[in-house]
Amino acid sequence: MGFSRENVYLVIVLMVMGMLRKSVASVHKVGGSAGWTIMGNFDYKKWTSSDTFTTGDSLLFVYNSQFHNVKQVSRLDFLSCNATSAVATYTSGSDTVALTTPGHYYFLCGFPGHCQAGQKLHVLVAASPSLSPDLSPTPSPSTGSSPSPATASEDSAQNGAVSMPLSMALASAMSGVVVLLVALVLY
Ligand SMILES: *[C@@H]1O[C@H](CO)[C@@H](O)[C@H](O)[C@H]1NC(C)=O
Repeated sequence: MGFSRENVYLVIVLMVMGMLRKSVASVHKVGGSAGWTIMGNFDYKKWTSSDTFTTGDSLLFVYNSQFHNVKQVSRLDFLSCNATSAVATYTSGSDTVALTTPGHYYFLCGFPGHCQAGQKLHVLVAASPSLSPDLSPTPSPSTGSSPSPATASEDSAQNGAVSMPLSMALASAMSGVVVLLVALVLY
């Protein structure tokens, strides 16, 4: 009871959005099972190259806090293993670092000699792809003078003022069909 058709559709739409946004909540455990360490000459460069990092993800550094820490540093300090002017320092032994903005992140262990021994991590974080272009047709400019390339082919014989509402109606009809198809598969 209370399980209306609209609610079912809403749940389906949210599930589809959740699948599209799968990568958003990824937590990357630095070094995998090796963790954050100088043991075994772990290759953190190799580790980062086998993964992709997107805004909204986070890094998890797991290590023995008696022997290691995590310092986020500038690129130059990363290259020279200089931990004296870190922009952020983590010491708990199980530290989560949110990757909130796209760009380069540099980390090293501040214990003497550890960075030189290879305990340093560079991560390039890509911008998370926006959902809106995929799920909802972008509202067209009200002038109607230039239909976008994606929708122009269907209505190329029409003038702009007519083709805009037509293509938008087509788009919303198609998203309705997608929802119905998903509903058929799931029920
Ligand atoms: C490390 O950086 C600080 C300031 O950022 C600088 O004063 C110091 O000389 C540097 N140390 C080394 C060994 O380069």
